[in-house]
Amino acid sequence: MSTILVAGAAGTIGRHVVPALAHRGHRPVAFGRDSERLAVTHPGVECRVGDFGDPETLRAAMAGVDGVFLLSPNTPDQVQHECAVIDAAAAAGVRRIVKLSARGAHETSPVAFWQWHAAIESHLERSGVPYVALRAGFSMANVLGHADQVRDHDILPAPALAAPVAMVHPADVAEVAAHLLATEPFPTERVLELTGPQAVTFAELGELLTDVTGRPISYVGGTDDQVRQSLGERGVPGFVTDQILAIFDQLRAGAQSSTTPTVTDVLGRPGRPVRDFLAENAAAFNPARQNRSAS
Ligand SMILES: NC(=O)c1ccc[n+]([C@@H]2O[C@H](COP(=O)([O-])OP(=O)(O)OC[C@H]3O[C@@H](n4cnc5c(N)ncnc54)[C@H](OP(=O)(O)O)[C@@H]3O)[C@@H](O)[C@H]2O)c1
Repeated sequence: MSTILVAGAAGTIGRHVVPALAHRGHRPVAFGRDSERLAVTHPGVECRVGDFGDPETLRAAMAGVDGVFLLSPNTPDQVQHECAVIDAAAAAGVRRIVKLSARGAHETSPVAFWQWHAAIESHLERSGVPYVALRAGFSMANVLGHADQVRDHDILPAPALAAPVAMVHPADVAEVAAHLLATEPFPTERVLELTGPQAVTFAELGELLTDVTGRPISYVGGTDDQVRQSLGERGVPGFVTDQILAIFDQLRAGAQSSTTPTVTDVLGRPGRPVRDFLAENAAAFNPARQNRSAS
């Protein structure tokens, strides 16, 4: 049984990595800044509290750890933060790292987030620690970012997008990560690209949301300026808006229209379709029910 430190354990993907490791007979250790959040998300699992920006907490978190699942959010500190985790892992003799990266990671990518992932992958390569970079495609979880507009206005807005996108289920990304961390011997591939089982357009997503919610949901395309204004009104920082628009620019050009067989190859089953993700999260897309109980 190996001990695996899971960074981002309370987040969208990390929350699935912890049980997937336990299911495979390994000992996950949940890492994050908020002990209460970690304990509520993962009852009965050892939690270690720390901050990617605090090397001493990273050093302490690595005690007795055999492997690391590495994930951090897209903040301006991302490269510094993930490189600090890699350095702490290397110093502690950690034997394997699975890093969540992004499809399109490249040092000259027009998307800064994807440049950052490429820089972290290069640091991993230099560290000497065996690793796999999981370059995950556009996440189905991103659709939840539009849930309020689906719920309140029956629309799915996105920058005009005719190209299909092979969105991947966050739980599939997590299961692939857990499987690789649990595999003996550790795989020799350094980069794996993950997608969902089929590509869908945003118009098709609107149709799937119509099925799932039982209400007609329309996809509404928008110009970059409209998106900029709408995100600005919602308090999204300008730099993040620029990155979102750059990502949609890539998607419009078909950069994520193709599928890869990685999920099936690793897990021996196809990836979950987007319909499943929408159905699992149907409550987020439906208006809250009135309290009809007679009291
Ligand atoms: N969305 C996509 O389409 C897509 C596609 C490919 C790759 N990705 C990559 O996915 C990553 C984000 O994953 P996610 O969606 O699972 O993230 P998330 O839901 O935002 O979770 C981030 C986690 O990191 C923890 N965290 C944040 N700052 C921390 C710090 N300073 N020290 C320690 N822990 C910290 C948070 O926990 P606490 O706040 O409790 O500490 C949280 O558990 C990004 O790197 C992104 O590039 C996303």
